[in-house]
Amino acid sequence: MDMFSIEGGHRLRGTVRVDGSKNAALPILAATLAIDGVVQLERIPQLQDISTMVRLLQLMGSRVTINRMNQMNVDGSDVRTTVAPYEMVRQMRASVCVLGPLLARFGTARVSLPGGCNIGHRPIDLHLRGLAALGTDIRLDAGYVICRARSLRGAEVDLLGTNGPTVTGTCNVMVAATKARGTTVIRNAAREPEVQDLAKFLKSAGAMIHGEGTETIEIEGVDELQSTRFGIISDRIEAATLAIATAITHGDVVIENAPVEHLAAVIEALQRIGVAIESPDDSTLRVTAADAFRPAELTAAPYPGLPTDAQAQFMALLTLANGQSRMTDAVFPDRFMHASELIRMGAQIRLAGNSAQITGVSKLSGAPVMASDLRASAALVLAGLAAEGRTEVRRVYHLDRGYRTFEKKLNQLGANIERLDDSRSDTKPPAPHFEPDRTSFRSPPSADDLDSRR
Ligand code: UD1
Repeated sequence: MDMFSIEGGHRLRGTVRVDGSKNAALPILAATLAIDGVVQLERIPQLQDISTMVRLLQLMGSRVTINRMNQMNVDGSDVRTTVAPYEMVRQMRASVCVLGPLLARFGTARVSLPGGCNIGHRPIDLHLRGLAALGTDIRLDAGYVICRARSLRGAEVDLLGTNGPTVTGTCNVMVAATKARGTTVIRNAAREPEVQDLAKFLKSAGAMIHGEGTETIEIEGVDELQSTRFGIISDRIEAATLAIATAITHGDVVIENAPVEHLAAVIEALQRIGVAIESPDDSTLRVTAADAFRPAELTAAPYPGLPTDAQAQFMALLTLANGQSRMTDAVFPDRFMHASELIRMGAQIRLAGNSAQITGVSKLSGAPVMASDLRASAALVLAGLAAEGRTEVRRVYHLDRGYRTFEKKLNQLGANIERLDDSRSDTKPPAPHFEPDRTSFRSPPSADDLDSRR
């Protein structure tokens, strides 16, 4: 298991490029299951979650080849199995995105029910409600959701949940509806750019979809989806994370390949905090941080609101603001695992319901901290960049799920982050060493001794 050792206090400077979007690529890769043909995808980011989705597609019979950097060919002509096993879904919730595509093409799917996760209770009742409205018979058995539909038929579906619309739920229903008989209208659809990208991909394969990006999506069923070629949008969350990393180190960075149009709420929040942002064109951001950060009241909300996937990173920044801030998460009300780790670095945060009250401090201090999920780990890395001294972020496998060689990108901008093998430092005693007078040898402590000190 890897960990990061971060020496704080280096300003980020230079130019960095954003990769293709993970959350756009995942449902699009899943949607290739609905196509009896070859799909060529460009700008697929090389990430752990993408490898997991590719393994799942291969398990079902898709042939996946990587032609050159970030270009993938997926041939779904030989897909035979329609089961997503627990082992895969357990590793990545987005595996549930295969439900809609499998139903569209085969009329059957057996997918392990995803459990809870570190960002809270995450049911899929809205996905199932939508698929049921299209004529799917659904039952649960031994931890699996089993879906069957003799023929899908268009229907009106409302996907509003208690915490707003559902992103992957909208994806599942939209893909299933592309091959349903008649017209489907999804009300309270998620408007996220990743949902829009999936709609564009499906349209490039022959689907008839209108209204993506609004809260009402209309889908006219077609008989077949065909082979296509498609390029994935840039990752707005990676861009946001790099912008906040620049801000928190008082740096000056040009972010290329940034989806500026999708970052309006992030840019507005950074400007309120006192960070200068210029966008000379629609794919470039220049971030120049002020000397002091203003406090702010921010709420993570469905798109076009501030993304919940940037909430933890913003919280790291606000710990250093000049006064009292509040961060509310209206999408995942319990998504605050990072708060207690930030507190270990000297932050002052008090949690109440779906909000965190943050009293700005003048400095954070480096400490060993534990990553609990993908975006929480990004927040801890950002805090480590700004902290005095050394921060050790453990369990960076969470980070690797969604950021490609993140430490290399940051180091190229002037950060000092080392990736270390945590399992070795956890279990092995330090090498024997001599006392300063170089005459007496002291035995290293045993692994048991080390364990009892933790
Ligand atoms: C997607 C993103 C994730 C992001 C989230 C919110 C992917 C692969 N993941 O996750 O990074 O944080 O959107 O922008 O794109 N809900 C229900 N019932 C359901 C489905 C969802 O109550 O059937 C609730 C959830 O618990 C949550 C809210 O609705 O409170 C939004 O969740 P949802 O949009 O479905 O998140 P995901 O699609 O899983």
